[in-house]
Amino acid sequence: MAARAEFIGDTGESAPARWEPPFGTGQVHVVLSLLAADQESLAVVLERARKAHAQLPGAQVVHRQDFYQLSTGRTSFGYKDGIGNPTIEGSGAETPPGDGSVLKAGESVLGCPDETGNLPPMPQPAELGRNGTFVAWRKLHTRVAAFRRYLHDNSGSPEEESLLAAKIVGRWQSGAPLVLAPEHDDPALGADDQRNNDFRYASDPGGANCPHGAHARRANPRDSEIIGDIRLHHMIRRGTNYGPPLPAGVLDDDGADRGIVFVFIGSHLDRQFEFVKSQWLNDGHFTGLDQEKDLLTGDNDGTGVFTIPQHPIRRRLHGVERFVISRGGEYFFLPSLSALRWLANAGA
Ligand code: HEM
Repeated sequence: MAARAEFIGDTGESAPARWEPPFGTGQVHVVLSLLAADQESLAVVLERARKAHAQLPGAQVVHRQDFYQLSTGRTSFGYKDGIGNPTIEGSGAETPPGDGSVLKAGESVLGCPDETGNLPPMPQPAELGRNGTFVAWRKLHTRVAAFRRYLHDNSGSPEEESLLAAKIVGRWQSGAPLVLAPEHDDPALGADDQRNNDFRYASDPGGANCPHGAHARRANPRDSEIIGDIRLHHMIRRGTNYGPPLPAGVLDDDGADRGIVFVFIGSHLDRQFEFVKSQWLNDGHFTGLDQEKDLLTGDNDGTGVFTIPQHPIRRRLHGVERFVISRGGEYFFLPSLSALRWLANAGA
């Protein structure tokens, strides 16, 4: 990932030279994600991992990152995340009503045809590559106090603040999409997974409800009129928290390191993760926004702009700074269980 930093907007404060070690140093060869429902179960799987590691004297633990998911699904800026994700054909997962984007298995599983009808390139031999996929793992520090202050400084009331924030994200804090709830948050809608992803943008071509520059609309323009095939750029992603939440209402930074561990999973790091990051989030040309970058996650430098279409004249916010800073990340190959067995037997 460090080698692709300029392309994906990891510049300035987010540049690899400023990443936390060991990210970007070439020392990270394997990542092990341990997921559990609570602390006790985590301790159990951690112990299993420790025992397995003890049998690999050549491997050293170079880093550990704790992260957690709140039951509300909210991440550090306070917004529910993880609602918009494509469904993969043949996965057996129930498809909630959504933008209809059931993707060919090869978009996320190597060895199967993808949306272009081709087999994505995969590591060889086939026993290793088949049924595997790729991962982009990123540690993203979030400047929550600065974001709140920006909202505060550009709004006249708490109601205006939450509307402005929703225009920036594309959803209200509860997860209710702006297209379906243009004026007020609707927590019942946000909590209802049969409805909270069931929308398109055709009813809002000018962005009067949800601006073209809103984070979620950029990251998945759905049926917005743009150049290119949107389906080739859908991505499975997960965001979890690290660090303590900033208490509600606090506008001053307390110095704590908090943010999101962002994980992308898919067959094409370039046309999925890197494309969305570089062309849709860090560039506005695809939707007529010129140089305008995503306000939430873009590599803005204090001179950024955010356009909110409204009548009689649009509103333009200036002086957008960087609210998300990369602390490091790596690209990985994620082998299938059969490939892990094959590897284990190869050494036997
Ligand atoms: C700290 C960084 C980030 C934060 C706080 C954040 C937050 C959010 C939130 C609140 C949503 C709306 C919930 C949803 O639709 O699931 C969202 C959607 C999304 N974000 Fe992010 N995000 C971050 C980084 C990124 C990055 C780096 C990418 C891609 C490279 C990305 C891609 C997406 C996608 C694809 C969606 C779904 C849009 C849809 O299907 O409607 N996000 N994000």
